[in-house]
Amino acid sequence: MSLLSVDRLEKRFGGLPAVDGVSFAVDEGEILAIVGPNGAGKSTLLKVIGGLERATAGVVTLGDEPITGLSPHQIRRRGLAMVMQTPRSFSSMTTIENSVLGAMFGGHTGRLSEREAVARGRDALAFVGLGARARHPVGTLNLHEQRFLELARALAGRPRILLLDEVMAGLNDTELRSSIDIVRTVRDHLGITVIWVEHVMKAVMNLAERILVLNFGRVLVDGDPQQVMRHPEVIDAYLGTARA
Ligand SMILES: Nc1ncnc2c1ncn2[C@@H]1O[C@H](COP(=O)(O)OP(=O)(O)O)[C@@H](O)[C@H]1O
Ligand SMILES: [Mg+2]
Repeated sequence: MSLLSVDRLEKRFGGLPAVDGVSFAVDEGEILAIVGPNGAGKSTLLKVIGGLERATAGVVTLGDEPITGLSPHQIRRRGLAMVMQTPRSFSSMTTIENSVLGAMFGGHTGRLSEREAVARGRDALAFVGLGARARHPVGTLNLHEQRFLELARALAGRPRILLLDEVMAGLNDTELRSSIDIVRTVRDHLGITVIWVEHVMKAVMNLAERILVLNFGRVLVDGDPQQVMRHPEVIDAYLGTARA
């Protein structure tokens, strides 16, 4: 059974479709990359799945439960975490405080003890390589570290599935390589399913096992990387413009 399935999902803004009847499913343990030109509806799709935007039509199912219409908080409790394009950490707090917050609002049932929340926050910081920065204010982190902190905050909540929105934009080669390694480790060692919107094609080709291409709010093609890259419409719609 699929861990997450999206059925004819639609999101309109003032009558204009941003997401226009999208269907796909991800199995437990998959890494699915979503690519497509600017304005294709990638971020909106993730936001609707995570409950940050309300669907105009369609259904999202997590496990065996429909989650369409639930609040972001309720969806997070059910084990879906997101890292959005712009870091949203609390800049007046330290990195460990941010990570612990992620644990407290994560996917557990019942009340988490403070001790357990702190332990989970620490584990997550160590996992992304920010252990030594635990007591540093978020304001002292660079963009790359802030993205990793966002990831730590998501992981501290022990999600089943992680949604990432262009977390590799603007990174240098070294940072890009460590980001790719971390996302791979999230799946391989933590067993977390990953849906990852990405513009950096080098990273996509390195890491994705399956690619879904969105164009004008619709699925253009969904398949393994070789298959997708050979698709003539993909070359026109996406790679053609990137090459030019
Ligand atoms: N809050 C919003 N209000 C109105 N239009 C929006 C809003 N968010 C996104 N859009 C529009 O929806 C389309 C898809 O945007 P987006 O999902 O951000 O694309 P992508 O992430 O693929 O670049 C764009 O035309 C964008 O202008
Ligand atoms: Mg976007």
